[in-house]
Amino acid sequence: MALREVLKFPDPRLRQVSEPVSEVTPELRELARDMLEVMYDEPGIGLAAPQVGVPQRLVVMDTEWSEEGGRRNPRVLVNPQIVHREGRIVWTEGCLSVPDFQAEVERSERVRVVARDLDWKELEIDASGLEAVCLQHEIDHLDGILFIDRISRLKRSLYVKKRKKALRLEEQEQARPGSL
Ligand code: NI
Repeated sequence: MALREVLKFPDPRLRQVSEPVSEVTPELRELARDMLEVMYDEPGIGLAAPQVGVPQRLVVMDTEWSEEGGRRNPRVLVNPQIVHREGRIVWTEGCLSVPDFQAEVERSERVRVVARDLDWKELEIDASGLEAVCLQHEIDHLDGILFIDRISRLKRSLYVKKRKKALRLEEQEQARPGSL
């Protein structure tokens, strides 16, 4: 079966505010499985359901894995919510939905997140560093926020211009008759 497609900026579906999950259904389990598969395939360390076009408050992540190490610690978070923040940290971020771009983003250095797992058990996660950054980045997706919203207006507008140009080139390539 083909993997689910990751939506790319400026797809308007990335801007939707996602709905809370009210119960774990077989479809939700399937979605979580699919999202993990996409995340490892891309590869990425986190993915939010709206990135695959499903506006539900579901996040998958694994900040410990590496292609070389092969160690995987997949996590599925249903309705994740930040309940406490501390400190500041600057991290260079990228996003599977924001092609060909990375930028420094300032966020909280430590967060406490509450969520549920796929058995509807309550989870409480105290995270710092990369894990805290990833949680904040993915939870932002659930509110229709991308990391480029958290950089300077100048850097953002330069990226938007570059992205529009790349999309125009892509369209021209596709429109050219006989191209492979
Ligand atoms: Ni992202």
